[in-house]
Order: sequence, then C-alpha cells, then structure tokens
Amino acid sequence: MEIQYFFILILLVPPASVISHSAAFQNFPSYVRSFSAQEPFVKGAYRLGKPLIGDDRRVYTCSGMNLFAFESNGSMAWTIVLNYTCNVGIAPVRGGARKLLVIYWQIYLVAENRVLKINLLNIGTSDSAAEVFFGPEPGTERPGEIIGISVSTSSSCVLINIKNRGLFAYRLHGQLLWSAGPVLYQSGYRQGCRKNVTDCYFTSVPVIDQCEASIYISNTGGELYALSVHSPHFKWIQDLSSFGKIFTVTPGNNGRLYVTVAVRALVLALDVSSGTVLWQGNIGPLSSTDIAPVVDSNGNLMACRIRSIMKLRKC
Ligand SMILES: *[C@@H]1O[C@H](CO)[C@@H](O)[C@H](O)[C@H]1NC(C)=O
Ligand SMILES: *[C@@H]1O[C@H](CO)[C@@H](O)[C@H](O)[C@H]1NC(C)=O
Ligand SMILES: *[C@@H]1O[C@H](CO)[C@@H](O)[C@H](O)[C@H]1NC(C)=O
Repeated sequence: MEIQYFFILILLVPPASVISHSAAFQNFPSYVRSFSAQEPFVKGAYRLGKPLIGDDRRVYTCSGMNLFAFESNGSMAWTIVLNYTCNVGIAPVRGGARKLLVIYWQIYLVAENRVLKINLLNIGTSDSAAEVFFGPEPGTERPGEIIGISVSTSSSCVLINIKNRGLFAYRLHGQLLWSAGPVLYQSGYRQGCRKNVTDCYFTSVPVIDQCEASIYISNTGGELYALSVHSPHFKWIQDLSSFGKIFTVTPGNNGRLYVTVAVRALVLALDVSSGTVLWQGNIGPLSSTDIAPVVDSNGNLMACRIRSIMKLRKC
C-alpha cells in the first residue's frame, strides 16, 4: 500500500523548471522546496532511479536533475535540483563525516561521470547542499564511466569504481588515498585477470565489509577480490567464473561472505579470510538479478525470491 502511494506521488512531481521558478516557496533557496500535490502536472520524460532507503527511514531517489527525499509514509520531504543528470542505474549511498560525537550525514550520488555530495544539514538553508565530490577538472580528460560507489563512515572513505581505470579510494574531504587496478604484479607473478588481461576490469559496485575492513569487488572474468580498506593490498582473489561471472556479494559480519549467482539460483558461502568456498546451496529463482540478499542481526541470510522472501539458513 505504502509503495503504491509512493509511486503515485512520483508521477505527480513536476520537472525541475517548475520547481526552481515556483513563487510559492520564496523563503527557501531556489533549489529546495517542499511538495504540493496541487502543482500543475507535467509529464516527465525521466526515469526514476534506483532508490536508497536511509537509516533515517527516508527514501532517496533521483530522476533527471532532481533528487527526491520521501518520508517512510510516502510524503515528500524535499527535492533538490542538481546541475547534472543523475545516473538512474546507480542508487545514491549514505555516508557521514564524524566530527567529535556528531555525524554530519551526506548522500553521494553519480551524475554524468561525477560523484555529487549532498550535505543533508544544508537542506533548507541558504548554503548550497550539493557539491561535486569527484569529477573532471575543467579542460582535462574525461574521467570515464563510473560503475559504482560506496561510502564507509567508519573508515571515512568514498570508493569509486571507474570502468577500465580501477578502484579509487578518497577521503571524505576529497583527497585521494589510493587506487588499484584489477591486475597486480608481485614477485614476478600476475595476480588478477588470470585468464585474460584484455578487456579485464572491475565490473561491480565495491562492497565494504566493516568487520573485516575489507572491500569486495569482482572483475569481468568472474574473479572476486578482497582488498584492504586502508591500502591497495589484495587480501585474496577467488576465481568464481565456474559458478558465473555476474554475482552479488553480501558480507555476513560473521566470518563469512555470501555470493549470490542469481542466474543459477546459487548462493555460496566464502571464508572472509581466505576466499575459500565453504558451502553452496540452491535458492530457487530470485525476484531480481541485481538485488543482493541481506543478513539480519541474527545471522540469517534473507533473499527476495519471486513472490516470497526466503530465509536461507542460520549461519
Ligand atoms: C508523513 O510523515 C511526516 C514525517 O514523519 C509527517 O510530517 C507527515 O505529516 C506524514 N504524512 C502523512 C500523510 O501521514
Ligand atoms: C550548480 O550551478 C550553480 C551556478 O552555476 C553553482 O553555484 C553551484 O555550485 C552548482 N552546483 C553543483 C552541485 O555543481
Ligand atoms: C581475451 O579477450 C579478448 C577480448 O575479449 C579476446 O579478443 C581474446 O581472444 C581473449 N584471449 C584469450 C586467450 O582468451
């Protein structure tokens, strides 16, 4: 019911031009405003992006040059107009900068080969809420297609996977910490892209395992990497191509890592310290190939199957 309400509201959202020139909300800066269902209805040509469901129970989603925030009951909290068209295939991610005991919450999103940072505290104030966190310097080469981003509040870093370039780790204030490609030469051995270096690049959204201070990311050849959050060091690389080349990764926070190969309805449990496959199980058809299962606080792995939610096993 709530979901339906949510999508009906989205259809009523006027495009950016109507939002920024409305006279009804003059107290707000032009890029921020609340929502009124009495606005003239203009059919938008833009698709709605993948949503982020924040810890604050708000739902954040992008469309065209707008970022929308909805309350959990479906009413709209705010809209901001961005200068760039957001990438609807990449969900925004939530992060926060810790200063003393206070966390300043932020939202990061991908728009036109840039990563934008939205400072939630500035919403509704005269300060600009959106800033370019990562993007091409004027006059320099294009940075390439962004495949995925993640933010670790505990490690204070933003990870950006750029197609054919590699994984880049930035501090929350924008300084580059390190970068890594999918191939590493170490004492004469090649690590990563073992079968074929040509056209081999990181293809997945980097997944952060807070417990292990690890990052998991996979390449076009079906290899899964565990990297250290703190340096471009490969902890291990596991070749999972015999199971499939496209999979999602869910940290178990219990010494295990779950890999779901949706096309084969398989789930694998890996040891986080070595990448060894401990067991594999069949889970039946999943409702979507790109939604990762989640692990609840009791260690149960939950997956959305077609028309049902399945509890896989207590781990
Ligand atoms: C939805 O929730 C918000 C914030 O919690 C509240 O201000 C608003 O009145 C609620 N709207 C409806 C229709 O219940
Ligand atoms: C958007 O453009 C305005 C005007 O050029 C500028 O002041 C603002 O900083 C820009 N915002 C972002 C997120 O680039
Ligand atoms: C490696 O990949 C490239 C591009 O996909 C392909 O043309 C080439 O034949 C591959 N080489 C081997 C040894 O499989």
